[in-house]
Amino acid sequence: MLLTPKHIEFQDRVREFAQKEVAPLSAHLDKTGEFSLTLFKKLGESGLLGIPFPKEYGGAGLDTLSYAIAVEEISRVCGSTGIFVAAHISLGCSPIWIAGNEEQKQKWLIPLARGEKTGSFGLTEPNAGSDAAGTETTVKKVGNKYIINGAKRFITSGAIGEVITFTATHDKSKGSHGISAFVVEKGTPGYSAGKDEDKLGLRGSITSELIFEDCAIPCENLLGCEGEGFKVFMKTLDGGRISIGALALGIAQGALDAAIEFAKNSGQHKEQSIQGLIADMATRVAAARGLIYQASMLKDAGSPYTKEAAMAKFYAAEIGMWVCTQAVEICGIAGVTKKYNVERFIRDVKLTEIGEGTSEIQKIVIAREILGK
Ligand code: CAA
Repeated sequence: MLLTPKHIEFQDRVREFAQKEVAPLSAHLDKTGEFSLTLFKKLGESGLLGIPFPKEYGGAGLDTLSYAIAVEEISRVCGSTGIFVAAHISLGCSPIWIAGNEEQKQKWLIPLARGEKTGSFGLTEPNAGSDAAGTETTVKKVGNKYIINGAKRFITSGAIGEVITFTATHDKSKGSHGISAFVVEKGTPGYSAGKDEDKLGLRGSITSELIFEDCAIPCENLLGCEGEGFKVFMKTLDGGRISIGALALGIAQGALDAAIEFAKNSGQHKEQSIQGLIADMATRVAAARGLIYQASMLKDAGSPYTKEAAMAKFYAAEIGMWVCTQAVEICGIAGVTKKYNVERFIRDVKLTEIGEGTSEIQKIVIAREILGK
């Protein structure tokens, strides 16, 4: 798919940033699970933490396609940094962009988009994962405060998040219509991060539990209207799924790059079976990129894109897993060592089939869009 000169220029700029600032850290982040404050600051200074938001709200004033390109380029060298950027923008900033009033955007979106604060998004719970309407975290209005009790799980950047959007239910019997969306700031009494997960992949991205114990937040922290939080979060996930598709795509491209390098170094690129495999991998990567660009462009045009975002995420994650598996096969024993990074890529890509809606959930979303509910 043809990119405009502006998009190509942006892609080159992010690729250079990724090679210079991210690639040298990727193995270390994977090994230690550390969050690099220095890298976070550099991402912010480069405008990479607010790509799709207008400049007056601290963003870079670019489009969704640029954002997808950036996540792909970063994930091509480091999936952990790719998911950090994707979660910060799509999950940390977007609910405030979608449902926040002017005061809330001034207060929270601007510092997030500038990269002065980190953002995260609390939807998943111990008993409400795929069934997001099954939220059990409760909210009670007392005077001019909302009192929150409950817990969130598997939250990307949870422990390091400074501005956290999350859902809670006023009345579980109302299902999705009883859910509202709120913002809590790190340091609010009654709010804390629990344990961090020790994960298979994306180990340099922090994944934590969030705990609310009689946590009182001001009424001004409600995003949108009471009972509208589920829809705000579903809209947020539509956009988020493009970025998780781009994450899978970037990891797949990184694994393909490594397989090509190995094949050339070992002389295997002259074998027809390896040529066929590389051709197959490259074709699937190109197809995934096409779906991600399509969903991004529909979003930028203001057209419906729920189905296309789910297709892009579903397909990119599935081919990502397949491409990384083939890359390990091509590299042979070197594929399970650290030398060609493919053992990291195969561990990192698995989460893209699960996070922000499993492949099964994407198929439900696609089928409902085609067939009706
Ligand atoms: N945009 C706007 N509104 C939407 C919507 C969308 N994309 N999807 C649904 N809605 C609306 C519906 O129109 C409906 O509105 P009405 O009741 O007024 O008609 C309402 O929301 C309820 O919709 P459904 O009846 O379709 O809801 P459902 O309970 O059947 O669930 C689902 C639908 C698609 C399965 C949804 O639950 C879902 O997406 N589940 C997966 C959740 C997910 O991706 N979780 C991962 C989150 S990531 C995280 O928390 C951790 C992290 O940091 C990464």
